[in-house]
Parts: sequence; C-alpha cells; structure tokens
Amino acid sequence: MSFSQSHLLGIEPLAPADITTILDLADQYVALNRRDVKHADALAGLTQINMFFENSTRTQASFELAGKRLGADVMNMSMQASSVKKGETLIDTALTLNAMHPDLLVVRHPHSGAVDLLAQKVNCAVLNAGDGRHEHPTQALLDALTIRRAKGRLHRLSIAICGDIAHSRVARSNIILLGKMENRVRLVGPPTLMPAGIADFGVEVFEDMEEGLRDVDVVMMLRLQRERMDGGFIPSEREYYFRYGLDADKLSYASPDAIVMHPGPMNRGVEIDGEIADDINRSVIQEQVEMGVAVRMAAMDLLARNLRARSKEVMA
Ligand code: NCD
Repeated sequence: MSFSQSHLLGIEPLAPADITTILDLADQYVALNRRDVKHADALAGLTQINMFFENSTRTQASFELAGKRLGADVMNMSMQASSVKKGETLIDTALTLNAMHPDLLVVRHPHSGAVDLLAQKVNCAVLNAGDGRHEHPTQALLDALTIRRAKGRLHRLSIAICGDIAHSRVARSNIILLGKMENRVRLVGPPTLMPAGIADFGVEVFEDMEEGLRDVDVVMMLRLQRERMDGGFIPSEREYYFRYGLDADKLSYASPDAIVMHPGPMNRGVEIDGEIADDINRSVIQEQVEMGVAVRMAAMDLLARNLRARSKEVMA
C-alpha cells in the first residue's frame, strides 16, 4: 500500500493510484465503523489538531471521530473565536501550533490557497478540510467511495454536477477526481453560476436540467452558496427551484438506477425536493456521511505511515 504524498492539500496532486489506495483502505474502515467496538490504533500516540477558520458541523465532527477511532489525541480549535480576532496572522498561528508538535493538522479556511501556504510553514502532515473556492479533497474522496460502492466501479460513469458550480470547492475537487478516474462529467446550472474558464475543465456544460441529466448514472446536487454571493446570481429561490431544483420529474431524465448525492448541508425546496433527498431507493446522502468518516480515517492513516517512514529515515 503506497501513498505518494506527505500532505492532503487537494485532489490535483494525487495520482489515480493514490486515490485507489485511499478508497481501498477506507473500505476496510467502513467495516470497522460498523462493528460494536470501533477502535484501531493506527494513530495511537499521535496528536491531531483541527483548525477551523470557517463554520462547519459535519466536516469537523467527521474528522474528530475519524481521529478518535484511530486512537489519536484530538483537539478542536474554533479559530473564529480566538486569536484571529486579536489580529494574529495565519502564519503566526501556524507557527504557534507547530511548536506544540502536532502530527496531523486539519485546516479549513475561507481563502483559497491558505492551507497550502500553511503546509509550507509546519513540520506535520496537513489535511485540507476546504479552502475558499479551491479544493475540498476529503469530500471528493468520500463522494468517490460512495459512487464506487453504489455502482461497483469508478470509471466510465456519466456524472452530472448541478447548481452552484462557481462558488463550490466540492465541485472543483470532484471534477478533478472524476476526470482522473476517466469518467464523463457534466456541469448543469445557470450561466451565472458557472466558473470562468469552464471550457478548460474537460467537461460538458448544460444550462437545462432535462438535457444535462439525460441518462446519467449519478446526479450530484450542490448547495446554493449564498454566503459567497455578492449580488444577483439568481432571480429568486422559487424560480431557481423551478428550473434547477431536483424533483421527481427532473430525476426521471436520468438513468433509472441513477443515484442522488448532496454534500450537505442541503436546502430542501431550493436545490432539492425533500422527498427525493429522503428516498432511500435513490438518495445516498446518508451513505456519503458514513463514507466521510472512513475516508478521513484512511487519509490520516496513510499520512501517518509516511510521517513515521520519514522520521525513521532521519534517525538512521
Ligand atoms: C461543503 C463545503 O463546506 O464546502 N460542505 C461540507 O463540507 N459539509 C459544501 C457546502 O458548504 O455547501
């Protein structure tokens, strides 16, 4: 089992073999997480610090649980409430934490590129838990695991990513991952919510849900990221739901066994109909949450193995 990286900053630097290595190990952790006793010692003795400069419930909880199940000492720091308010720079915060000798640093930050910058200043393994509109690698990996388990493969599938693509790091990481694994990716949404330079992404773009969803194997819905919008991106939520909200009628254009995904948190009645979201025959939204813990366990385990290998080299 080999993983080429010393950090998990994005999907971009990963080789297809790295992706497969994480997913294969995550499958084993799914089995562990379904047992009564959910404990392994892959991270025993290691210290994991979760630094969230942006609100998060599920991602932070998922990383915390992943670390605890593997025996790490886990500390959560809510950075909005702390020294950031007192004017400390990101780099000073990083150096302060670094002096406490963490082994794994999990970072979410509102600015694209902030996590890469931080990784250059510390000695430990850094995991990106979402930086601005840039990347959210563990989300794309948990989505990939969910797809692979539901469809039996992760190649030559047709996947529609729908809605607010422009503001979404989830979309970006998924486009890169699904492309690397040789799938056909379609982006569906209003032109105002498509990122600039979309032609370079190697994807097909649709403005219309009926055309965009036709015969796809996977329908991935995204949250309308209103907190990242500064003006009139959509006419109204009602109008948006009418044209882009996933309901039974729009889903009927997809393949009859297409699965429905959403990274959460979801806005029922805005981008997705509540009944579709709860339909256990189509929706894998709860599986995504389950896979999230397993994928984060796998990623931290692999990075910890590389940390240990490096410190052995230094000792020798
Ligand atoms: C996503 C995020 O933060 O980028 N959510 C998450 O990781 N749980 C998607 C979103 O906020 O819509």
